Amino acid sequence: MRAWGVPLALLLVAGCGAVRPQPMMMAAEFRPPPVVDPNSMARKLTAMQPDWPRGPRVDCKKSKCVALTFDDGPGDYTTKLLGILRERGVRATFFVVGEMVAADKHHNLRRIVDDGHELGNHSWSHAQLTALSTSGIRYQLKHTQDLVERIAGIRMTLMRPPYGSTDKRVAAETKREGLAQILWNVDTLDWRDRVPSIVAKRAGKAKAGSIILMHDIHGTTVEAVPRLLSTLEHKGYTFVTVSELYGKPPAPGREYTER
Ligand code: NI
Repeated sequence: MRAWGVPLALLLVAGCGAVRPQPMMMAAEFRPPPVVDPNSMARKLTAMQPDWPRGPRVDCKKSKCVALTFDDGPGDYTTKLLGILRERGVRATFFVVGEMVAADKHHNLRRIVDDGHELGNHSWSHAQLTALSTSGIRYQLKHTQDLVERIAGIRMTLMRPPYGSTDKRVAAETKREGLAQILWNVDTLDWRDRVPSIVAKRAGKAKAGSIILMHDIHGTTVEAVPRLLSTLEHKGYTFVTVSELYGKPPAPGREYTER
């Protein structure tokens, strides 16, 4: 009889209406809203995927490494991009926007994680964080952290400020949320120039330790990927996630633009 006590108590708590309803999430997953201490929930979720991101470890002190990064998704072309990256055995880092994750109908977020890519926080609504109040910055970061954690079981450790716009307040809030600020040193300007050959050419100019900025919400960028992979492979580069590029977890709050 005693064994029934705990589940019964949980059912009563879940049914009493004290928990904030989350209609959007309820259909997609069967986990009830957390009624436990959030810290213990985070530990449990981390334990579900202890070796994330997966894949062979590369020593970027010895190898010529570049980190491909894709922002603003997941979007309409993310599934196609994931297929290309999987086929070529390449891993990248995706800086996702919370609203896009919420609207993602193709389970791309889970697939990004399952394929061994790294995830980073790119705010909830692609807001310019420096223009927000401190509580506004906190909301943009935390709301995205929480949604990604509920869907993918991952607490992200990287973020990229939209428009690369950051200051001391943004730095303080990212540090508080446990997020390193990842900028870039190769800008493909793929949002402006929707021409695959131009995007591939700009990415191809990366140096060892570069972080390359692209956007997986543009079909032309995804079309550029096979070519830029070939160019960089030919030059002897290994593709790594941002955390792999540094060989250790980047420090929360700090800004990074290259290795
Ligand atoms: Ni962006």
